[in-house]
Amino acid sequence: MGRLWWCYFLLTLLINLFELRICKREQVVTPPLPILPLPTYSQLKWQQREIIMFLHFGVNTFTDREWGNGRENPQIFNPSDLDAGQWASVAAEAGVSLMILTAKHHDGFCLWPSKYTDHSVVKSPWKEGKGDVVQEFVNAASAKGIDVGLYLSPWDRHDKRYGNDFNYNEYYLAQLQELLNKYGGVREIWFDGAKDPKTKNVTYYFTEWFSMVRELQGSINIFSDAGPDVRWVGNEKGYAGDTCWSLINRSSLSIGNPNITHYLNTGDPRGTDWVPAECDVSIRKGWFWHKSESPRRLSELLDIYYNSVGRNCVLLINVPPNTNGLISDTDAHRLKEFRAAINTIFHNNLAQNCDVQVSSQRGGEEGGFGPENMLDSDHLGSYWAPSDEQEIREHWIEIRGRLRFNVVRIQEAIGLGQRIQRHEIYVDGRLMMQGTTVGYKRLHRVDGGEVEANVVRIRITKSRGLPLVSSIGLHFDPFWHSRFGMP
Ligand SMILES: *[C@@H]1O[C@H](CO)[C@@H](O)[C@H](O)[C@H]1NC(C)=O
Ligand SMILES: *[C@@H]1O[C@H](CO)[C@@H](O)[C@H](O)[C@H]1NC(C)=O
Ligand SMILES: *[C@@H]1O[C@H](CO)[C@@H](O)[C@H](O)[C@H]1NC(C)=O
Repeated sequence: MGRLWWCYFLLTLLINLFELRICKREQVVTPPLPILPLPTYSQLKWQQREIIMFLHFGVNTFTDREWGNGRENPQIFNPSDLDAGQWASVAAEAGVSLMILTAKHHDGFCLWPSKYTDHSVVKSPWKEGKGDVVQEFVNAASAKGIDVGLYLSPWDRHDKRYGNDFNYNEYYLAQLQELLNKYGGVREIWFDGAKDPKTKNVTYYFTEWFSMVRELQGSINIFSDAGPDVRWVGNEKGYAGDTCWSLINRSSLSIGNPNITHYLNTGDPRGTDWVPAECDVSIRKGWFWHKSESPRRLSELLDIYYNSVGRNCVLLINVPPNTNGLISDTDAHRLKEFRAAINTIFHNNLAQNCDVQVSSQRGGEEGGFGPENMLDSDHLGSYWAPSDEQEIREHWIEIRGRLRFNVVRIQEAIGLGQRIQRHEIYVDGRLMMQGTTVGYKRLHRVDGGEVEANVVRIRITKSRGLPLVSSIGLHFDPFWHSRFGMP
């Protein structure tokens, strides 16, 4: 009995020791816990698009107006060479993966043959009333592998039901269902809060509309002043706040409220909801095409890029088709230049072949969270994480090499929450730049046009929990450089 017991005891001990060894050897360092709120899958997809194209097109294109009054004769809608394939080609060449079309603007004229009104393409001479711009748009986008979004103006200056809340909301919802049922997958739906200033008592049933959108389109992002998925940035200049959180309190937002533009512009470090901002701006002065206007200069577009995409937002750039139904050559050309410039600037990461050191790393050298993760092409899943030991207070990244650059890029692993609240950039020991939030992408342009250095240190001085950095880059922007009169 005693011998048997000893055998059993020794065997158990051996098995336990063996298992302990295996476990120890295979113990992989876990990822850190996320910090809420987090983005949804669709919000992450949206963020990675960086640039989205808006197309304002309708009766205003033919009346040379920005806001129609609803009394336009549908006979004026007659684009001579409408070619949605050209729109999609322009978008594809600009590296755009989502296009949003104004299916209906405030004037109430529908670009598709809605069965709930005859104030539409049906009454126009275009294709003898048998055309459907929304369908052509969707087909052309699909042929180029581009996703589609739609704008359906809540304010309708044509329909007589406007002002009678119950009937009008039924009408609006009917058209929303029509659009979201008939044209396949829609990735973004765009709502604004514009109302007739003389009929202020009109109520839009946003709760019902949003619920219906969710029911009909599973992977859509809903844009409005107040989200729920994407929020307005608070201006139409294409500029986000210098501080820009994807976090905000939805309970503090309401659609069409002019008092919240600053809050929308910066977000809220204590926000309970993930509602990142989209920066809408037109390539021209107006949203609709006007003969008298021309596209912005490349330098202006680059400023917009740095202040939107470079501040944790997505840029929604409007490129309006003209009376021929085509994007003007000047605009197509400018957009192509814009994409080429972005590629020139960011194609080459000067930090790529440098020695990159960090203050600490989660799980030590073998933990899998080292600085190399900031130089790979995965900007969400792989990231540098500092050690979570209490005594470690300093968080920094150091890049060493012979460096000549004028742009610093920092990206957070936002899938685990937006964290960084303050950061500083030292060049050869001298504080050169500082900023607050980082988020999906933060870009800093160097004052004075360029800098030469041996050591660049990025210090993260304040953060919600530990900072997690998914990518860093040092770049050379020749367009910025030349603005300082440099060769
Ligand atoms: C809004 O006000 C206008 C003018 O005072 C009135 O005719 C209309 O019935 C009101 N609409 C609603 C929904 O109360
Ligand atoms: C905006 O602020 C003004 C002044 O404080 C206030 O009178 C108005 O009611 C506010 N509007 C909204 C929609 O909250
Ligand atoms: C947002 O909500 C959080 C949590 O309730 C709160 O701490 C914070 O103060 C709110 N922000 C604002 C601007 O009210």
